[in-house]
Amino acid sequence: MDSNTHNSIHEHGHGHVLQVEKVFHMTSRVGENSYSHNSALQREKGNDVGPCFIAGMPGSFYGRLFPSKSLDFVHSSYGVHWLSKVPQGINNNKGNIYMGKTSPHNVFEAYLEQFQSDFSLLLRSRADEIKLGGQMILTFIGRSIKDPTTRDCYLVLELLAKCLLNMAAEGLIEEADIDTFNLPHDTHFIEEVKIIVEKEGSFVIDQLETFEVNMDANDNEENKNCGFDKFTCGQNVSRCYRAVLESLLVDHFGQAIIDDLFERYAEFIVEYLSMEKTKNFNIVISMERK
Ligand SMILES: C[S@@+](CC[C@H](N)C(=O)[O-])C[C@H]1O[C@@H](n2cnc3c(N)ncnc32)[C@H](O)[C@@H]1O
Repeated sequence: MDSNTHNSIHEHGHGHVLQVEKVFHMTSRVGENSYSHNSALQREKGNDVGPCFIAGMPGSFYGRLFPSKSLDFVHSSYGVHWLSKVPQGINNNKGNIYMGKTSPHNVFEAYLEQFQSDFSLLLRSRADEIKLGGQMILTFIGRSIKDPTTRDCYLVLELLAKCLLNMAAEGLIEEADIDTFNLPHDTHFIEEVKIIVEKEGSFVIDQLETFEVNMDANDNEENKNCGFDKFTCGQNVSRCYRAVLESLLVDHFGQAIIDDLFERYAEFIVEYLSMEKTKNFNIVISMERK
């Protein structure tokens, strides 16, 4: 988000209310309006936060989780770019693990249909749970371009597919296993997100913003060297995606290939980063329950 709110907590009756002390616009990489300055201020204020109630809900956010009309505010961070399942009928996605330049047309359609169905269900489920006038803010990886095979559209997955194909060429895995492996993940196109919210009809969008994050999250102003040390960046990115994807890959290909795969992946990322610096594109959407 390019702005963030710095809150202070005040006693109010039996509980606490959050009052906005100052709004910070995170529009630059250094100084007063930087992310690091904002984070430092939030750390200072962290100890002032009063008691909070934490609960785990057993279930998927693609369906009901909470009692009807019980919520004032919902926030999901970095979750809803995961689909509820791998889109069906895409075993012909040869040599790809997501939508790629060589994917057949039906793969693009299947991913879009899965997103439309999942996102509509998420909206419908939260609409039942959020009180009228309540608010929902979702933050997720997305894309600004309709074509999912272009720049800000998860190039990292294409590099991972290349590593798998190299391993298949060396006889370490079966190429047919790559063809049948597809990720239940989507980079939602910003215009499509708007259309689904409008069509579902329970929420009105009051703000929609985008922001970019370096492919290597450590590559920020506080760690200037990283921008020049491509090897460290490659390792960081590889470890990060290993943390996210390992269990899915192990399920399909087995544990034995994982160390080798992510060593190759780090090398691919290093090679890529020596040509250009890549950022992930993110969407933040704020909606009010009608
Ligand atoms: C990248 S993590 C984000 C975690 C945390 N919200 C944050 O911002 O650091 C994505 C999380 O979404 C969860 N997730 C993915 N699909 C989900 C679903 N359908 N229902 C509930 N949680 C889901 C995953 O289990 C994972 O914990």
